Amino acid sequence: MQIFGVDIGGSGIKGAPVDLERGDLAHERHKVLTPHPATPEGVADCVAEVVSAFDWSGPVGVTFPGVVTDGITRTAANVDKGWVDLDARTLLSGRLGGLPVTVLNDADAAGVAEMTFGAGRGRTGTVILLTLGTGIGSAVFTDGRLLANTELGHLELRGHDAETKASTRAKEEEDLSWEHWAKRVRRYLAHVEMLFSPELFIIGGGVSRKAEKFLPLLDGIRADIVPAQLQNNAGIVGAAMAARRATQV
Ligand code: BGC
Repeated sequence: MQIFGVDIGGSGIKGAPVDLERGDLAHERHKVLTPHPATPEGVADCVAEVVSAFDWSGPVGVTFPGVVTDGITRTAANVDKGWVDLDARTLLSGRLGGLPVTVLNDADAAGVAEMTFGAGRGRTGTVILLTLGTGIGSAVFTDGRLLANTELGHLELRGHDAETKASTRAKEEEDLSWEHWAKRVRRYLAHVEMLFSPELFIIGGGVSRKAEKFLPLLDGIRADIVPAQLQNNAGIVGAAMAARRATQV
């Protein structure tokens, strides 16, 4: 079975029909650049452009980089503030000619995909996926069940919002060495570990492709730490999985 997945990211909005048996894209994805500012109207136009690149007329799952409850986007740390308390499901569905739309947090989507098809497959107990990118996203699972919208990227660490110090954006903007940045990530993981005692951390985001540069530097953490496996497509696959669950097709 196929369902359409769209991932709204800081630099690109990308999507494709997803083969839900394989947990992979059924066609090569289509990507458009995220407009700046990333207003609801501008982003909705991009989502419509991505979907219209395919001959698609079924459910669509869409990720969003903020808290989402029942189709309403609640926060907007790294996108236009027009998303706060917006009925995104209705906006996007309207722009897609009435197709059923499911909206969920981007890290939750990536986590759901990783737990089923990637690094978390078959793992029980507490598993935490952290996406290190423009911000830090989190997805918390116990025995495979998601606790949605956890927002662990905004934990306070030494008086700062953690994502402003340990995201890959912070690494780039402050031009940090791998060693220096890894020290911050280790401090952050130790804090999350103190609160949740997970068995496993899965590290996602683009930087997971360079896992060998920093995972060996994260010593002193009890939990296993592994890179995400689906990488670029985890959000798209997870969005499609959520849309299937919501529409029960
Ligand atoms: C947002 C999260 C999001 C993460 C990654 C954070 O700033 O608050 O909701 O998952 O960035 O995009």
